[in-house]
Amino acid sequence: MIVNTELENKGNQFPSKIIDFKKDVDRLYFYTNNDVILQITVVRDSVLRFRYTTVGNFDNDFSYAITKYASTGYNKLEIDDKKDKYIVTTSKLRCEISKESLRVSIFDAKDNTLINQDEIGFHWEESYQFGGNIVKMSKVSNDGESYYGLGDKPNHLNLKGKRYTNWVTDSYAYGKDTDPIYKSIPFYTGLHHGKAYGVFFDNTFQSFFDFANERRNVTSFWAQGGEMNYYFFYGPKMTDVVESYTDLTGKPHQLPPMWALGFHQCKWSYYPESKVKEITSTFRKLQIPCDAIYLDIDYMDGFRCFTWNKEHFPDPKRMVKELEDDGFKTVAIIDPGIKIDKHYSVFKEGLEKDYFCKRADGAYMKGKVWPGECYFPDFTRPEVRDWWSGLFKELIEDVGIKGVWNDMNEPAVMEVPNKTFPDDVRHDYDGNPCSHRKAHNIYGMQMARATYHGLKKFRYPKRPFVITRAAYSGTQRYTSTWTGDNVATWEHLWIANIQAQRMAMSGFGFAGSDIGGFAEQPQGELFTRWIQLGIFHPFFRVHSSGDHGDQEPWAFDEDVTDIVRKFIEIRYQLLPYLYTAFWNYVDHGTPMLKSLVLYDQEDVQTHYRTDEFIFGEHILACPILEPNAKGRRMYLPRGSWYNYWTDEVVKGGKEMWVDADIDSMPIFVKEGAIIPKYPIQQYVGEKKITEITLDVYYKEGKENSELFSDANDGYDYTKGRYSLRNFTLTGRKDELIINQFKEGKYITEYETFKINIHGLPFDINEIELDNQTISLEQIKVNGTHSIVVDKNFSELHFMA
Ligand code: GLC
Repeated sequence: MIVNTELENKGNQFPSKIIDFKKDVDRLYFYTNNDVILQITVVRDSVLRFRYTTVGNFDNDFSYAITKYASTGYNKLEIDDKKDKYIVTTSKLRCEISKESLRVSIFDAKDNTLINQDEIGFHWEESYQFGGNIVKMSKVSNDGESYYGLGDKPNHLNLKGKRYTNWVTDSYAYGKDTDPIYKSIPFYTGLHHGKAYGVFFDNTFQSFFDFANERRNVTSFWAQGGEMNYYFFYGPKMTDVVESYTDLTGKPHQLPPMWALGFHQCKWSYYPESKVKEITSTFRKLQIPCDAIYLDIDYMDGFRCFTWNKEHFPDPKRMVKELEDDGFKTVAIIDPGIKIDKHYSVFKEGLEKDYFCKRADGAYMKGKVWPGECYFPDFTRPEVRDWWSGLFKELIEDVGIKGVWNDMNEPAVMEVPNKTFPDDVRHDYDGNPCSHRKAHNIYGMQMARATYHGLKKFRYPKRPFVITRAAYSGTQRYTSTWTGDNVATWEHLWIANIQAQRMAMSGFGFAGSDIGGFAEQPQGELFTRWIQLGIFHPFFRVHSSGDHGDQEPWAFDEDVTDIVRKFIEIRYQLLPYLYTAFWNYVDHGTPMLKSLVLYDQEDVQTHYRTDEFIFGEHILACPILEPNAKGRRMYLPRGSWYNYWTDEVVKGGKEMWVDADIDSMPIFVKEGAIIPKYPIQQYVGEKKITEITLDVYYKEGKENSELFSDANDGYDYTKGRYSLRNFTLTGRKDELIINQFKEGKYITEYETFKINIHGLPFDINEIELDNQTISLEQIKVNGTHSIVVDKNFSELHFMA
C-alpha cells in the first residue's frame, strides 16, 4: 500500500492557470495550460460535481454509485467572468474558481458564509507502477469544524483528527481502531459555523480521508487511481446534506416487507432440520416474537452455493413451508466463491460461459474460501449478474426461501496476506475493463445487486429481502446490511451503536449488528443490553459464530429471557412507527436514526455526543454500555421529553442521570409526539389488526406526526394504495386538538384508533369529535386518558 502524506510528497503536480472556459448547459469547463480541465456540473442548486483530468480529456463517465433516479435541475445558474476568478452562482451557492490556481471556494449564496475552500485543492502524483495518477484534494479545515460519515468506521462519530482508508475488508473480530473494515462509503459531512455541507468522493479505488490529522487546518482526500471526482452538497442543515447524498446514490428501490423489520434469529449454523425446528418452536412456546430464521453455510452440500445437504435437510421445501406456517421466514446465505468441482452445475456453467474472474495473464482467479478452492463470478459484467439472478429461481420460487444473505463478498479470500484478490485480477466493470484495484470496492455491491434482482423477480409480487456484508456507496438501493464479525464485549456494544448511527448518516439506514456479538460469548447482562439497543436498529438480528455456546433469548437465565421478551415486544409494538420512518427514508432519504448532531446541529453540545440518538422522528434512546449499571448520565437534546417508562417530563439541553436497571433503558418521547403502536404479535401478520394505539404526548404548542400504512408487502403502495395520516397536535392550557389529514387510497385493516393521552394538564369536561360533542363515558382515567375513535376522524378536541 502506498501511503501518501501530503507534506512529504515530492512528486506532487499542480494545475496551472486557467486559459479558457466553456459552458455546455449544466456543465462548465475550465481549461488550464497544462492539460488539466476542471468540469463542474450543476446537479441541483445545492449540489455541484467537480471532476478533474490531467490529460486534456475525461474518462468514460460511469459510476456504480449514482442512481439514474437522482434529482436534477436548478432554479438559477449565472456565470461571471471576473479579472482573477470565475463566479458560478445558483440559488443556494456561490462558487468561485481562481484563474491563477484553479482553487475553489464555495459560499452560501444568501449570507455569504464561506462554506468550503480548497487549500492546495486538486493536485496529483503520477503512478509509475500502475499508470494514471494518484489523485488528491486538500481543503481548509475550519477551527471548530466537525466531520461525520464514512459508513461503518467503528471509531468515534466525529471523525475530526483522524485518518481513514476505504478498502472493503473481511475483518473478523475487528476493534475500535481497525481500519478499514467491511464497507467503503467515501462520503462525509462537514459542520462549522452552524452550517453543514457534504463531500462524496465517487472514486472506487482505495481512497483515504484525512480530517485535520496530518495538518491541523487541512482536510484532504486522495485515491490510488481514477479521477478526482467529487460531489459537493450544501445543507445548511445536516439532514438536507444526508438526504441529498442519499438522493444521488439512491434510496432503497422499495420498502422492505414489514416482517423484515421484525426480530431475526441467526447462528452459524442451525442444522439439521430438527435443530431449526427446535429453535423456532421454542420462540413460539416462550412467546418471544420472531419473524426470521437463518440458514448459514452448513445447509449446503459441501458449501456449494445453490445446493442442499440432503442428509441434514432432506426436504427443504417442506421445511420452509412448515416454518412459514408458523410465521417464520427462512433466510439463506449465499457466498460468491464457487467451488471448483467439475460435477457441480453452477461451477460447470460458469466455466462454460466464461463468467469467472481472471488474472491479468489469463489464468482464473483461484482462491480459498469455505468450500476450499473456488472461482469467483465477475459480478461487474451485466450478463454474469443476469445469470446469477437466475440461479435463485429454485431456491426462491420452488423452495420458498424469503430472503438471501450475501457474505464474504469483499471478496474475502482465506490464507492470503491481503485477504482478497490480488490487484491484477481483471473485471469488466460494465464495459470499462479494469483491474481489481478499481473494482474491489464495488465487487460486493454488484453481487448484492445481482442477488437483489433474483429475489425481486422470483419473490414477485412480494418484496425482496437481501443482506450484504460488503458495500460501496449506493448499495442501500438493493439491500440491508450488518456490521460483520464483531465480538461479545461491552466495547463492541458501543461500536454497534456508533456504526448504526454512522451508517444512517451515510445514507445506508437498513443496518444492524450481530446482537450479542459474533465472536466469543456474552454474559446474559451484555446480551440484554444489546437487545435493548437492537430494538432501535432497523435491522434487528441476533447472530453468533456458534463455537462459544448458544445465543438465543433463552440461553441465559430466566430473567434475561423475560427482559429480552419485553424489549422485543416493544419493537413489535413500534412496528408501524418504524415502518413510517422507513417510508420516509425510501421516499425522501430521511435517516431513520439521527445522531444528536443530525437532530440539532445548532446545539454545539451535540457535536461530540456518541451514545444518544433519535429513532424515527420522536423517540430518543440511549443504550446502557457498562456492566452493573443502574442507570447512566446522558444528554437530552433541547426541547421537552417524556420519560417513556414514567411519563415524567424533563427539559432537555442538559446532561442528566437517568435510572435504568437491567430491565429498563433510557427512552424518551418528544413532547407533542403521536406514536402509533401495534398490539404485540408473535410475528408480522399473526393477527388481524383492527385497532392501532396512538400514544399522544401532550405539549403546549404544536407538533406533527405521521403514520404510513399499506399492505406491508407487495408493490401496490407505489400505485397510490397506501394510507398516509398526518396528525397535528395543538395543545393549550385548557384544550388539546388533534387534526388528521389523510392521503392515499389504501383502505387499512384497522378501523379504529385507541388514543392514550399522556401528560394532559387538565381534567376533560368536553370532547368534540369532528365538531360533534361525544359522551365522556369512554374516557377511562387510569393514569392516562383513553378513548377509541373511528380512524377517519378529522378533528378531535378535548376541553377542560
Ligand atoms: C462470516 C460471516 C458470518 C458467518 C460466517 C459463516 O464470518 O461474517 O456472519 O456466520 O462467515 O458463514
